[in-house]
Amino acid sequence: MGPLLSMKVLIIGNGGREHALAWKISQSEMVDEVISAPGNPGTAQCGRNLPDLKVEDSVGIVRAAKAEDVGLVVIGPEVPLCLGLADKLREAGIKVFGPGAAGAQLEGSKLFAKELLDRHRIPTGGWRRFDRAGAAKDYLENAESWPMVVKADGLAGGKGVFIVQSCEEACSVVDQIMEERQLGDAGVEIVVEDFLVGQEVSIHVMTDGETIVLMDPVEDHKQVGDGDTGPNTGGMGVSSPVGWLSQRVMRQIEQRVLIPMLHALRVEGIPYHGLLYAGLMITEGGPQVLEFNCRFGDPETQAIMRRFNSDIVPYLLATADGTLDKCEAPEWDSRQCVGVVMCAQGYPEQYRRGEPILGIDSAEAVEDVIVFQAGTRHDGHEVLTDGGRVLAVTGMGKNVNDARDAAYEGVKKIRWNGAFCRSDIGLRPKTLSAKAKA
Ligand code: GLY
Repeated sequence: MGPLLSMKVLIIGNGGREHALAWKISQSEMVDEVISAPGNPGTAQCGRNLPDLKVEDSVGIVRAAKAEDVGLVVIGPEVPLCLGLADKLREAGIKVFGPGAAGAQLEGSKLFAKELLDRHRIPTGGWRRFDRAGAAKDYLENAESWPMVVKADGLAGGKGVFIVQSCEEACSVVDQIMEERQLGDAGVEIVVEDFLVGQEVSIHVMTDGETIVLMDPVEDHKQVGDGDTGPNTGGMGVSSPVGWLSQRVMRQIEQRVLIPMLHALRVEGIPYHGLLYAGLMITEGGPQVLEFNCRFGDPETQAIMRRFNSDIVPYLLATADGTLDKCEAPEWDSRQCVGVVMCAQGYPEQYRRGEPILGIDSAEAVEDVIVFQAGTRHDGHEVLTDGGRVLAVTGMGKNVNDARDAAYEGVKKIRWNGAFCRSDIGLRPKTLSAKAKA
């Protein structure tokens, strides 16, 4: 029997996450074309790009979705979600994977998220809100333990979280955010949080507001340098599944965080049809929420899509339709995936664009390696760097070492001026320090 449905899917965004989604969705029997807006050279290999459509252009996206008669829109980044793109598509009668503006506030406002977590007794670190720099600095001057965490309230493209080691550093960050407005309106208010000690993990669930479909956990390495050193980034590499995360802790995550969050959204009257991403710290006392995001993680999605063995489209459609309760649990590839992000020199600060990239095909010729493109663009037949995080090289293997070997073998084949990556993706800092002592 042939496919029951054949439709076009429109993916919004142009990063590595969107390339991974396009790669996976294009394998579905239910899909005859994947269109990406604006897309990148990677998504172009999976279908067709609409390069002139900006993710903030809700009117243009609704118009394109109608003109193309797409059966589903999948929204990748947080900015269009927070701007209400999903609401506008739904109003136009178009099926969409992604929450409306009300649900996207979970990521769009740290204050909104923290207040909701506290109202529903979902475990999260202690925090205070400030709308004046002076009051924030007074509070920090009396802090009894360091480090502390300072967060801009609004969206800051992954640049709004600061782990500060001293009062002096904290006050300087407060000035940058609130007085100098280096993050624009995202810094009108800030949240000062207690620093949580433990192991970080990214948990993704698809939800239609009634049912959750749990995705396998992913470990993201957020700091730019080996051994978790240097400034935070959007993510330098991933590993999935997460061997150290026990079934007992997974049950705690479901019972203390995910199910209460679903309940909270219902009680607060917030419909949610999309991806809910919990950034968690697994502490000695159990899981604590660091943040909620309203979309797939990047580069977490690259590892999730490589290991998601079922057709993903029925899950995306059921999330949009509110029928996730009819879906079976998805099948996962039992192998390990390690994804190494290759960056442009200078990232996460200033970096150069426009460097020709060589060797992507040779990397993909390595067994079990797939390269997802993020900050890239075409120039004729060449692919050039066009962002800080340029590529994610993913490798699969029967264990972390094999997956790392595959991924780093792929990395070795790729070059451009100033390319760099972490060398320890998939290893935990503890493993590193044990090695250092050996
Ligand atoms: N990798 C972190 C994020 O997507 O927010």
